[in-house]
Amino acid sequence: MRPKPLRIGSIEIWPPLILAPMSGVTNRTMRALYRPFGLGLTVTEFVSSNALQHGNRRTMEMIDQHGLEKPVATQLWGDDPATMARAAKVVRECGADIVDINFGCPAPKVTKTNGGSACLRDPDRCESIVRAVVASVDCPVTVKMRLGWSENALVYLEVAQRAQRAGVQAVTLHARTAKQFYRGEADWAHIARLKKGLDIPVIGNGDLDDPYLAIERMRESGVDAVMLGRATLGNPWLISQIRDLMEGRDARALPSAPDRLRFAIVHYRTMVEELGEARAVPQMRKHLALYLKGIPGAAMLRERIMRIESADETIATIEATISRLESTPLVAA
Ligand SMILES: Cc1cc2nc3c(=O)[nH]c(=O)nc-3n(C[C@H](O)[C@H](O)[C@H](O)COP(=O)(O)O)c2cc1C
Repeated sequence: MRPKPLRIGSIEIWPPLILAPMSGVTNRTMRALYRPFGLGLTVTEFVSSNALQHGNRRTMEMIDQHGLEKPVATQLWGDDPATMARAAKVVRECGADIVDINFGCPAPKVTKTNGGSACLRDPDRCESIVRAVVASVDCPVTVKMRLGWSENALVYLEVAQRAQRAGVQAVTLHARTAKQFYRGEADWAHIARLKKGLDIPVIGNGDLDDPYLAIERMRESGVDAVMLGRATLGNPWLISQIRDLMEGRDARALPSAPDRLRFAIVHYRTMVEELGEARAVPQMRKHLALYLKGIPGAAMLRERIMRIESADETIATIEATISRLESTPLVAA
C-alpha cells in the first residue's frame, strides 16, 4: 500500500507518519532526534494557553524549535476561547507551522479546569474554541481528540464535524474515551467511522506498535495518516520500518542490541548538552529503561541506572554493557 502525502492546508507532509505529542517527552531535542528516522510531522508537548499569557522561560522552551524538526505542530490546551486565541497567536509568532488544539488529555490536573478531554463534555464550547483559534492565526489549525468523555457520550463525530465547519484542517482521533485513560484497546472502528464522516484529513492514533499493524490499520480505516506515541520510545526504528512499508520497501530489520544502546548514548549526550545534566539525567532514566528492553540483564541494569546521578557514570555503564554484549555475541543476539 502506497499512501498519498498528507495535506494539512497548504502543507504537504511525507510520509504521513506523525510523532504523537507526549508531555514531558516530545521536547524539541526529542523531536529533532526522532525526525530523521522518517517522520513527516512532529507535535510539541501540550502547552497551557493560560501559562502562555505569562511567557515564563519553561513555557517558552516548550514551544521552542530547533528548525531541524520542521514542520512542527504546536499543541495548546485550555477551556477559554479568547485565551486560546491569544495563545495561538503567540505560538504562531514563535514559528508553529500548525496550531493543534488538545481535546484529548484525560489527566485530572487538566480536566479539573475543563481543559483537554473535559472540553468534550461541551461540544458548543469546543466549537467556540476552534472558531476563536482559527480566526486568530494565518496557519492551519488541527484538533486532537478522544472519542468522548465516557462511553455513554461518544461525541467525536459531532465535535469533529463542527470543527470542520469552523475551519479546522485535520483531526486526529485517539480511539479511547477520557474515562478509559490507557485501559483497554483503542477502537479503530471509530476512526474508520470518523474518516467516512469528514472531508478533511483524519489521522488515526492508538496502540500502533508494529509496522505491519500500522499499515493494516491505515488501510482498513482509510485514514490519511497515522500517529505513533508510546511504541516509538526506546524504539525509533519502528518509525523507519513504517516509512519503508509506506515507500514500498520491505521493513528493515531492527538494529542489534549494541547498536540500539549506541543510539541511546547519542540520545543521552544530546539531552545533556541541550538541557543540562540536572534535568537530563532524571528524564533520560525512562528512555534508557525502554532502550534496554529485551537486553540480557536489563532488569538489574535498569535498577542501577535509576540510582546513578551523573551522566558520565550512566554513559560508562551503558558502554560497559555494549562491550559485554559484543564479547558474548550469542547472548546478545
Ligand atoms: C507520556 C505521555 C504524554 C502524553 N502527552 C500528550 C500531550 O501532551 N498531548 C496529547 O494530545 N496527547 C498526549 N499523550 C497521548 C498521545 O499523544 C497518544 O494519543 C496516546 O499515547 C495513544 O497513542 P499510542 O498508543 O501510540 O501511545 C501522551 C501520552 C503519553 C504516554
